[in-house]
Amino acid sequence: MSNRTPIIAGNWKMYKTTSEASAYTAEFLGLVAGVTGVEMVLCPPFTCLAEVRRQTDNSPVRIAAQNMHFAPEGAFTGEVSAPMLKEIGVTDVILGHSERREFFCENDEDLAKKVAVAIEAGIRPILCIGETDAEREAGKTEEKLRGQIEGGLAGIDADMLAGMVIAYEPIWAIGTGKTATPEIAQQAIGFIREALTGRFGAGAAGRVRILYGGSVKPDNISELMAEEDIDGALVGGASLKAGSFAQIVKFS
Ligand code: 13P
Repeated sequence: MSNRTPIIAGNWKMYKTTSEASAYTAEFLGLVAGVTGVEMVLCPPFTCLAEVRRQTDNSPVRIAAQNMHFAPEGAFTGEVSAPMLKEIGVTDVILGHSERREFFCENDEDLAKKVAVAIEAGIRPILCIGETDAEREAGKTEEKLRGQIEGGLAGIDADMLAGMVIAYEPIWAIGTGKTATPEIAQQAIGFIREALTGRFGAGAAGRVRILYGGSVKPDNISELMAEEDIDGALVGGASLKAGSFAQIVKFS
């Protein structure tokens, strides 16, 4: 176990209306009252961000948006900017989730701009990277990860890196119930830290938190967290019930 504080983040994706989010948050806060030593992040849809922020104001829970535009404002129908998120108390933002890359054509060039803009605005980016099944089968996992790191982090320096979060989410493990084994997850995340060391130096690479995401559940979180380089989890399906997400938060 490293001295990096673990982060457990729940990505709700496009689930929950504001009233559902509100009931969840009240239940979740009760379940995790008194939990220390782990950063908790809730990532609701845009429509519930302000309400969930209001409910969690007197708690250590951080709130993340699931996407953000790189421009501060402009004619970009359907998009939301960093100043808009900042004003309502959003602390983090998921960037480059594989679903955004696949269904909404997000690319590394735009993500590099988003990462830099978020950091400058004081919003912590959680940059997602990961390979497909076919890329893993073809032995191209490291090439894919290296490309996404170089592309997505093109606009930042070592100090900025240390304050952000990377999430390794192998696409074949997302929503499939096919969790990466702790060994596979450690191997990929160890490689990511090595690649970051080459680019930004050992100091910053040693401080950046790298999460695993892909079918994380209450019954597999502990073995994943036991790995040296895994600093937390980005949880999808199992974060949608306050009870199972609270169990994951209390993994140790
Ligand atoms: P699941 O936990 O549902 O596999 O989703 C993972 C994910 O995409 C989190 O961002």
